Amino acid sequence: MNKNCVCFLTALLTIICCCSKPADNGNALWLPGEDYKVNAEVVVDESLDLVNDGFMIKDTPEGRKIMAKTDIGAMYGTYALQRLERTGKADGTLDIREEPSYERRILNHWDNLDNTVERGYAGWSIWHWGEPVPVELIKEYSRLNASIGINGSVLNNVNATPEMLSREKLERVAEIADIMRPYGIHVYLSVNFSSPAELGGLETSDPLVPEVRQWWADKVAEIYSLIPDFGGFLVKANSEGLPGPQDFGRTHADGANMLADALKPYDGIVMWRAFVYSPKSADRANQAAEEFQPLDGQFRDNVLVQIKNGPVDFQPREPFSPLFGLMPQTQLMAEFQITQEYLGFSNHLVYLIPLFKECLDSDTYCEGPGSTIADITTGKTYPSVYKTTAVAGVANIGRDENWCGHHFAQSSWYGFGRMAWDVNLTSEEIAQEWIEQTFTSEPEFVEPVLDMMMTSREAAVDYMMPLGFHHIFAWTHHYGPEPWCEIPGARVDWLPKYYHKADAEGVGFDRTRSGSGNVDQYHEPLASFYNSIETCPEELILWFHHVPWDHKMSSGRTLWDEICHRYDRGIKTVQGYVDLWNEMKPYVDAERWEAVRAKLEIQESDARWWRDACVQYFMEFSGMPIPSDVAQPERPLEELKKIKLNMQHHN
Ligand code: GCU
Repeated sequence: MNKNCVCFLTALLTIICCCSKPADNGNALWLPGEDYKVNAEVVVDESLDLVNDGFMIKDTPEGRKIMAKTDIGAMYGTYALQRLERTGKADGTLDIREEPSYERRILNHWDNLDNTVERGYAGWSIWHWGEPVPVELIKEYSRLNASIGINGSVLNNVNATPEMLSREKLERVAEIADIMRPYGIHVYLSVNFSSPAELGGLETSDPLVPEVRQWWADKVAEIYSLIPDFGGFLVKANSEGLPGPQDFGRTHADGANMLADALKPYDGIVMWRAFVYSPKSADRANQAAEEFQPLDGQFRDNVLVQIKNGPVDFQPREPFSPLFGLMPQTQLMAEFQITQEYLGFSNHLVYLIPLFKECLDSDTYCEGPGSTIADITTGKTYPSVYKTTAVAGVANIGRDENWCGHHFAQSSWYGFGRMAWDVNLTSEEIAQEWIEQTFTSEPEFVEPVLDMMMTSREAAVDYMMPLGFHHIFAWTHHYGPEPWCEIPGARVDWLPKYYHKADAEGVGFDRTRSGSGNVDQYHEPLASFYNSIETCPEELILWFHHVPWDHKMSSGRTLWDEICHRYDRGIKTVQGYVDLWNEMKPYVDAERWEAVRAKLEIQESDARWWRDACVQYFMEFSGMPIPSDVAQPERPLEELKKIKLNMQHHN
């Protein structure tokens, strides 16, 4: 577009119109139809001083203007104004300037080529592999993402098959990229490290062998000939059985740098995951730091190390991964899981932004107080190291009519995008604007529903895994409770007992200096703070300590009584949601009201299942009675142990 041109935009960018509309929730999304017009003039001016597709919205003597340097920036400004209008915030004088916190705001789809979705709870893959390209569906997906600032999609599962890089599949990816491009979304792919051998027929995939390096260079050239704005690769290597550079005696840096060198001429990036652990180690939580910290400073400047928010695996609550504070010379990015693998799938109402923000707002102390994960990953802490910045969310999107399987699960997709755009937004602000656009702005609805969303993550922690319990899920599918789970021959670090370590003395994983030493992967004062049972936050006490059953908690109760109270509190909170939702009936269309009601009923029953299973199982170790001031278990443990759900790790 020409410099200094005033554009009356067509296609994606909406045009001037004199009237604004109230929230239109008829389509069960936060976004109204494409015919919604904002009340402003759009100006695209390449000379404006704005970075990364930022925009300004200003009221001038000539009227309201959306100003941006790029078409995509103007599109973001248009969506921003639309949001302000629909949430009643566009009435005063506007003088807004926004630039995104992260340059790359990426969804990771764990979609397989057979259209299953790993940890997907909203139906089959929206990419419709092997079927005609669903152009309208992908357009709508792109529009939704663009409206919240998402600008990247990794199309396939991190457990990638070499076939993904075949010519046929790449041509298909190019078709998808063409549909997404006008919405500012770049396509990325997960790649399998053995592709040179398995797809290319080479004898090895050793990253230091010239033929292997050439194979990747040729493959990357082929990709860019089809998709000129391709974003880059996401790699899960030497993790959970996947191949990687260590198979050839090389390091993660050797592997990542080989791919980075191939991508560099095209400005592509590598997102190399730090999700690694082996059953031989005494503490899974230690392993990412043990493997990656020694490689700090060895990665190319187009590599980002992608780190899950916690050191284990997307649990309802974990401390932040200490690796964020241990690699000052490496570009780091956070990976969050929007799909609710460990939070009740698409059956439970759990608004996840408080969980994500808890990680980003955590202070690592790597450069003294105030070195938060948000500051590190947005490049503020080490500006000379970060050539680009990124954040990833594992998508919860499928072919379900409401996209996410639960109407409220859309809020975590929405919230991830908004948080990635502006890391300083609060969880509450995001939830409120989502409610107002998706349902209604009537305060009688907004206030209680906002409260429900804002308390929902703590409720889930309470009824599933309070006080730092983690990974006490049923085998493979991770839906319900199975703290007793034993699978002959299974990896020990995939079994709940590895994590809860209950015995007659107490419960919890000793990660102190006299245990696995995990606390010392954190900088002081956190290391000592976590190390001492007196100062360790109670929310994480069973994460860091093996705690005696009769340990006195801040409530004055014993640990055992506190555990029972937390489960009880979680159930009561969800029962409150059921009652609340009944009162909300007049404000919601019948279909959505009933869909949410039915899911809340499941959630409430699951919460009781969790309590019955965990309290009765751990009681066998504590030998202490369930306090009389909490509701008593309903179903006997033996009956619960027989529950075997026929669920896969994909939909
Ligand atoms: C979890 C999840 C797997 C997934 C893995 C990953 O372990 O259960 O399905 O492949 O994370 O993030 O790579």
